[in-house]
Amino acid sequence: MRNLKDVDLTGKRVLMRVDFNVPLDDEGNIIDDNKIKAALPTIEYIIKKGAKLILMSHLGRPKGQKNEKYSLKVVSTRLKSLLDANVYMAPEAVGPEAAAATAQLKPGEILLLENVRFYAGEEKNDPELSRQMAELGDIFVNDAFGSAHRAHSSTTGVGQLLPCYAGLLMEKEVSMLRKVLEYPELPRMAILGGAKVADKIGLIENLLGKTAILLIGGGMANTFIKAQGKQIGKSKYEENVVDIAGQLLKKAAEMKVELILPVDVVAADQLSEAAKPVIVDVDHVSDDQMILDIGPKTIELFKTAIKRAKTIIWNGPLGVYEFEQFANGTREISRAMADSDAITVIGGGDSAAIVISMGLEKKITHISTGGGATLEFLEGITLPGVAVCEN
Ligand code: 3PG
Repeated sequence: MRNLKDVDLTGKRVLMRVDFNVPLDDEGNIIDDNKIKAALPTIEYIIKKGAKLILMSHLGRPKGQKNEKYSLKVVSTRLKSLLDANVYMAPEAVGPEAAAATAQLKPGEILLLENVRFYAGEEKNDPELSRQMAELGDIFVNDAFGSAHRAHSSTTGVGQLLPCYAGLLMEKEVSMLRKVLEYPELPRMAILGGAKVADKIGLIENLLGKTAILLIGGGMANTFIKAQGKQIGKSKYEENVVDIAGQLLKKAAEMKVELILPVDVVAADQLSEAAKPVIVDVDHVSDDQMILDIGPKTIELFKTAIKRAKTIIWNGPLGVYEFEQFANGTREISRAMADSDAITVIGGGDSAAIVISMGLEKKITHISTGGGATLEFLEGITLPGVAVCEN
């Protein structure tokens, strides 16, 4: 990728795409600012070099309409509190007001443009919108790894119109994920959880060719357990992918991949605060039970496997961790990952948030800021937002 450190930034207008798509609570407060913090090294590097920094991002999915609920104002306030620099907010992402705000910037100052998804052209990678964005900068930097799987105006279109470079976060994400995918220390293991198998079929197929051990937990394990012909009671599963799950199990066996599914589970007759958890063997889930976490024997099995691996990739919680009774599996595996001497990579989303909330982030080799982007990267797909920064 074209390296930001090879360019003279002094006095330049640097237009940078960041991924400030942070989770908000019902009152619009930021729940987790890790994505903002992850962009700080690139931001600080650029302003220290005496550039005028213009940041753009999306927030949520406002579908091409201006909507105060998705305004980046709350992000601009948080960014100000994290930096020792002047941070301004523009009411638009393109057009005369954005241009006027850009023109007033001094070297070392930062302007955050309003949500790029307030424009219908953004998600269509509309050339006219890309052109208007390109007018605001002399060079384009893409630091939004979390949005690199989207071919939008602000992630790729504008990068084709201006000299384009990868930001420091983008570089770090891509080099780390390439390492675990292409030059891993062996044996490599993947832990997959989360609700849906359908989203991860391509990923599992790609990992089967590259991974010695595959652990599956979380809601998605239910579909695999069903495919094994077992009873899963009232558990949620994906009826339309049971056959595919069965084929993946067969393929794993043929390829001699050690695919480990839960052998025991934490179940309850309902998913609620009042739910009474019981531990059951996976062969004995009754009709009125739903599987909500991995059980203690499975945790031990997973931990033993984790000790054998030299590279571990993890994506997706292993139970319904939002409920205290069903959070144990995810927490235990987080601790085992942190205690491991292997290269450990967490593929964004919920698993990343959990590890950070447990204060274990320093003991993990790399926590990706991408959810969907990381999954697609690990699936072997070329991400448009990465490709645009490449020579
Ligand atoms: C994410 O949170 O995964 C990224 O910011 C991408 O958001 P999107 O799925 O709305 O494109």
